[in-house]
Amino acid sequence: MEAFECIFCQKNYPVDPFHTFCPKCQEPLLYIGLQTDKKFYHNKDHPLEVMLDFLPLDRVNHDLSLGEGNTPLIRLKNVEKNFRLPALYAKNETINPTLSFKDRGTALVIQKAISLGIERIGTVSTGNMAISTAAYGARAGIKTFVLVKDGAHREILNSTGRYNPVMINVKGDYGELFRRSFSLGKKNNIYFTNSVDPFRIEGYKVTAFETFFQLDQRVPDFIFVPVSSGGHLIGIIKAFHELKQHGFIKKYPHFVGVQAEGCSPIARTFQAKKLSVERIKKAETIAKAISNPDPPGGNILLRMIRRAGGTIMSAPEDKILEAQRKLAELEGIFIQPASATILVGFLELAEKGKIGPKSRIVLILTGSGMKASGKTKQSDSQVLQASLSDLPGIIKSVKSD
Ligand SMILES: Cc1ncc(COP(=O)(O)O)c(C=O)c1O
Ligand SMILES: [Zn+2]
Repeated sequence: MEAFECIFCQKNYPVDPFHTFCPKCQEPLLYIGLQTDKKFYHNKDHPLEVMLDFLPLDRVNHDLSLGEGNTPLIRLKNVEKNFRLPALYAKNETINPTLSFKDRGTALVIQKAISLGIERIGTVSTGNMAISTAAYGARAGIKTFVLVKDGAHREILNSTGRYNPVMINVKGDYGELFRRSFSLGKKNNIYFTNSVDPFRIEGYKVTAFETFFQLDQRVPDFIFVPVSSGGHLIGIIKAFHELKQHGFIKKYPHFVGVQAEGCSPIARTFQAKKLSVERIKKAETIAKAISNPDPPGGNILLRMIRRAGGTIMSAPEDKILEAQRKLAELEGIFIQPASATILVGFLELAEKGKIGPKSRIVLILTGSGMKASGKTKQSDSQVLQASLSDLPGIIKSVKSD
C-alpha cells in the first residue's frame, strides 16, 4: 500500500493530492510507495519509465510529456582550471522544456493528475513554476490556474500568458496566498501543485537518479542545490535515501543547500542550530526566483539535512551576478541568478579548504538566464559599433587573448 507520510509525527495518510500537509504538524507530507523490490529499467528512453519502480506511477503517458529530463552532466573543466578545483560537474536542468528544473516536478504531477481524472490544476508562483505549470497544463488540455504575487516580473508574466492559463494577480502576503490556495483548491476542485507538493517532489528525485547513473553509479562527494521553498532539495535527498534503502549506495553525498543572503531564512536557522524556521520580514535579493521569506519546506528540509548530512548556507548578494557571468564566460552556460548562488557557495567552501582535492562535486543548475537574466538595466554587455566599411578594420583590431 502506498501512503503520504509525515516524518514529524510518523503518521501515514491516504494518498490524496488535495491533502498534502499533516493536519497535526502542518508540515508537508512525503509519498511512500511500499513496493520492496525495485529496479531501474535502463532499456527505456523516458526517464520516468527508467525510474518507474521508484515513482508513484503505474505507467507513463507519453502524450503528456514535453521531453523533460535526460539532461546532460557536464564536466566544468574551465572552471576547474581557473580556480584549481577538483572534479566539478554541472547537471544542466536549464535545458528542460520550459528552461528550468520545475518541469521535472510538473511532468510527474501532470501524469498523476490525469491518471486520477483531475481536470483542473493550479499553482502559486512568481516565476519558473508558473511557466512550467502553464505549459504542462496546456499540453494536457486541462484548465490551469496561476496565482501570481502582485508585482511579479513582466518577462515571466508574458511567457506564462502565452500558454493561456487563468492568471490572477493577487495583492497580499505571499505566504498567506500559498496556504489559502489549498482551501480554495478543495472548494473549487483545483489541484494546487505548489513547491512542496509530494508528487512534485517525487519528480525531482529523477534528477538525482540520473546524476547517479551518469557518474557510473558513484555517489558525488558534494551536491549543491539552490533553495527557496525547499522542495527541490527535499526530492534530491529523498532519492539518495531510497538508493541507500535499496542497496544501490552505502553513503550519502554531502548535501549543500544555498540561499541568497537577502532571503535566507532556512540558512539562518541552520547556522543558528535551530529546528524551526522563522519567516523573515523583508526579502531583498537579486535572485528573485528563490525569494521566499516563508518557506513551507524549511522545517522538513532541516530535518532531512541533519539526518543525511549536509549544510544550508547563504551566498552574499554582491557575488551572485559575478558567478553567473563567470559560468557563462568560462563554460558557455547562462544561468539565472538563483542558480548562480550555488557557484558562489561552492567557491566559498573550496576557498575555505572544506572540499578535498579528490572530491567529486555536482552543481545542479536549476534555471536558464535566457528567461530571467537578473539584469535590471538595459544591457551592460560591451557592443562595438561599426558601419559595413569599417567592419573589417574593427574585426582585425580585436586581440586574440
Ligand atoms: C531557478 C530556481 N532555482 C531554485 C529554486 C528553488 O526551488 P525550491 O523552491 O524547490 O527550493 C527555484 C524555485 O522557484 C527556482 O526557480
Ligand atoms: Zn505530522
